[in-house]
Amino acid sequence: MSGFDTTWLDLREPADHAARDAALLTAAREFLQAGGPSPLAVDLGSGTGSTLRAFGSDDRVRWRLVDHDPRLLEAAVSRLDGFPHVERMEADLARLDPVVLADARLVTASALFDLASEALVERIADLLSERRIGLYAALNYDGATRWEPSHDGDREMLAAFNAHQTTDKGLGRALGPEAADALRHAFERRGYEVRVAPSPWRLGPDQRALETALRDGFVAAVRETGRVDGAAIEVWQRDRIDHPAACHVGHWDVLALPRG
Ligand SMILES: C[S@@+](CC[C@H](N)C(=O)[O-])C[C@H]1O[C@@H](n2cnc3c(N)ncnc32)[C@H](O)[C@@H]1O
Repeated sequence: MSGFDTTWLDLREPADHAARDAALLTAAREFLQAGGPSPLAVDLGSGTGSTLRAFGSDDRVRWRLVDHDPRLLEAAVSRLDGFPHVERMEADLARLDPVVLADARLVTASALFDLASEALVERIADLLSERRIGLYAALNYDGATRWEPSHDGDREMLAAFNAHQTTDKGLGRALGPEAADALRHAFERRGYEVRVAPSPWRLGPDQRALETALRDGFVAAVRETGRVDGAAIEVWQRDRIDHPAACHVGHWDVLALPRG
């Protein structure tokens, strides 16, 4: 299990909502709403339901939250007051059963596909295109993390972090920074109309808690790779704590809709 906790998901949600590309979100919502009297959206790797809150409540729309972590599905309940039709489904995407997608008009995901393998993207693209289901996949990390002001250690730390992004998180070798491109190519090859747009985090002084959690996770990931000398990691971390920096984290949103 990849072990995301509600504290981290709650912390990142405001930044995610500010970052999502508004035009793609609107187009995804319109596609969903045009899917009959009670269209169904299936949110993969839903966590506590951040994507639903980004779409906003609509009495006609049904949602299916899919996650392998029952604690997150449980935590979603209290966070989704005002969403009248929400079904929770515990399932492991590593063994994706097509029943998860039954009756869907749109599949959504956020901060998920950088954890996924190319094989999973291809499988999802097959399943969606066979059923003419749309895909809205937001906040795919692109490998571009920048701090302002910069630090001599940034380049080495980021290279190690990005290498860690491609390790297996339970879904095979992760796409990491290649996720948005892999999605775009997979759906274009199947004749979908694909739009992509940047959705970066721009974290400033008012987001210290998120930045601190991000930095701690970043350092832990770098340590795990063994690519950076421990003393150099300490120096970088200490300097970053003593001299807080603005931080830019690159993401891309992808909207893939069946033509016609
Ligand atoms: C970065 S979190 C994003 C959560 C949510 N979409 C959001 O934006 O807040 C990734 C989510 O994917 C889920 N996940 C990871 N691997 C999974 C798997 N193999 N099967 C199902 N869900 C998985 C995690 O439990 C977690 O909820």
